[in-house]
Amino acid sequence: MNYLDYAATTPVNAEVLEVITKEMASFGNPSSVYRIGREQKQKIERVKKAILSELQASPHDAIIFTSSGSEGNNLVFESIREHFAKEKGHIIVSAVEHPSVRKPADFLEQEGFEVTYLAPNKDGIVTVSEIEEALREDTRLVSIMTVNNETGARFSIEEIAALLKDKPTYFHTDAVQAFAQEALTVDGIDYLTASGHKIYAPKGIGFLYKSKDAPIHALIKGGGQELGFRAGTENVPYILGLEKAMQIVVAKRDELVQNYQELREYLIEKLSERGIEFEFNGVANPKNPHICNIWLKGRKATQTLIFNDLKDVSVSAGSACSAGSVQISPVLSAMFKGETSRLEESVRLSFGMGSTKEDIDAFVDALR
Ligand SMILES: Cc1ncc(COP(=O)(O)O)c(C=O)c1O
Repeated sequence: MNYLDYAATTPVNAEVLEVITKEMASFGNPSSVYRIGREQKQKIERVKKAILSELQASPHDAIIFTSSGSEGNNLVFESIREHFAKEKGHIIVSAVEHPSVRKPADFLEQEGFEVTYLAPNKDGIVTVSEIEEALREDTRLVSIMTVNNETGARFSIEEIAALLKDKPTYFHTDAVQAFAQEALTVDGIDYLTASGHKIYAPKGIGFLYKSKDAPIHALIKGGGQELGFRAGTENVPYILGLEKAMQIVVAKRDELVQNYQELREYLIEKLSERGIEFEFNGVANPKNPHICNIWLKGRKATQTLIFNDLKDVSVSAGSACSAGSVQISPVLSAMFKGETSRLEESVRLSFGMGSTKEDIDAFVDALR
């Protein structure tokens, strides 16, 4: 198999698996007051501290473990909905956010909030000045992702954070495609969401970072776990797996980024060598160029996918979340309105730990 779809999900790292398996044999409810319960709780607290430290956050800020990036994103919007339930207000999101941001934004619109969906430029981003122009006195939340999952485009979240820092508007960034893969700081960021299965931990674990003063309201109500904001007995094995995965990716990230850059260049070289006409969609994140979205001119994406699948090469036409069927990507549609050929002929390759030039060779060979 040649796997070129790490933005969809990553394999569980062997060391992560070992940590999880070992912890599975460990016992106790973190909410119990006796020793084995307390020990479980201490492990959870240790991981929270490690994540806060990776994000250069204050120890007074909070980490809330979730089941996924999607849950974290929903939790942010639910918190804003509840906090401003009476007065409502205005929300800004980019039109290329993941559906787990766009759908909750739509829901808040139905609930009486006003939502501005900022269209991306041809690079796949919205600029800080566009956000500044859209800002209103009653803007409650700006939600702009760190790295787009389809194009790899990197938004200037640091500049957006600086713009909003002294304003009453909360800032959320969906960092599912960036956390651990690049060094992020949460200075000026109120909410940041991440997911384990994009960084070699299993599916089923993620977190929401929240600054000390950002409002939060539970989606899952019940017990007092996770500061009362996410009821349900904690998944300690997966939490420890997430910690291990973060440590591994952080330790290797410079080397990984260099490899992704080389693979990207190799892809360009091979496609050019074969006389395949192509163009990249969106600007790569220079810090983390693991996602390449390419328009293969004159080649329908459905065919590219099928020919690759026949050779057991895994690539995607868009986000895996809308996979199962190959639909025109809403992200590319927002960037290249009306450019039908480009929309129908673009595919996404994404690299990860273990990606090699042979994977690219297999992809280019399948195009023949
Ligand atoms: C940018 C982005 N946000 C959110 C998600 C959702 O994460 P999860 O699969 O953990 O729900 C994804 C998954 O593809 C993503 O790429």
